[in-house]
Amino acid sequence: MNQKNSFIAPQLNFRRACLSDSDRLLGWRNDPDARINFFNTNEVSQANHEAWFFDVLQNKNQILYIIETRGCLPIGQMRFDIDGECAEISITIGKKYRGRGYGSEAIRQGTRLFFQENIGVKSIIAQIKNINEISIRSFIRAGFMMSASMANTTKLILMK
Ligand SMILES: CC(C)(COP(=O)(O)OP(=O)(O)OC[C@H]1O[C@@H](n2cnc3c(N)ncnc32)[C@H](O)[C@@H]1OP(=O)(O)O)[C@@H](O)C(=O)NCCC(=O)NCCS
Repeated sequence: MNQKNSFIAPQLNFRRACLSDSDRLLGWRNDPDARINFFNTNEVSQANHEAWFFDVLQNKNQILYIIETRGCLPIGQMRFDIDGECAEISITIGKKYRGRGYGSEAIRQGTRLFFQENIGVKSIIAQIKNINEISIRSFIRAGFMMSASMANTTKLILMK
C-alpha cells in the first residue's frame, strides 16, 4: 500500500494567524519550491514581510488561517482576500508535509469554515499557474470546478 492509499483524511484545526506566526509565514513564503508557483516569485525581505503581515492582521477583508494538525502542529497557511460576495484563496503547505493529502483536505475543511464565518461570501476563486498541477488537483479534489483556462493561469471556483 502506498503512502497516499494509506492516508486517512485528518481533522485539521484552523486558527487565525497572530504576530507570533510572522517568522513561520515568512519561511513558507520564501521556500524556493513554493515560490516558483507564486505569481510573484521574488524572495521577500523580513522588513517587507513584517509590513505586509501587519497590514493583513488589520484588514477585515483578509482572513489568514494557520493550518494545524489535531496536535496543534502548524503545517501551513491559507489566506482569503474578500471582495464583496467573492473571495480569492491562496494556500501553502510546509515542505515536509506536502504530498500527504493535507493540501486538498485543508482546502476542503478551510473553505467550509470560511463560508460559515463569512456568510456574505457566496463564492471562492483560486487562480493557479498552469504549471502547478499538484495545486490544481488539490483544489479539484476539494470540490472546486474549472472556471477559466488562460495562457498561464487556471481559474477554479467553489460556490457556497
Ligand atoms: C499545492 C499544495 C497546497 C498541495 O498540497 P499537498 O498536501 O502537497 O497536496 P495533496 O497531498 O493534497 O495532493 C493533491 C493532489 O496532488 C497529487 N500530488 C501531490 N504531491 C504530488 C507529487 N509530488 N507528484 C505528483 N502528484 C502529487 C496528489 O496525488 C493529489 O492528486 P489526486 O487528488 O488526483 O490524488 C502544496 O503542495 C503546496 O503548498 N505547494 C507549494 C505552494 C503552492 O503551490 N501553493 C498553491 C499556489 S495556488
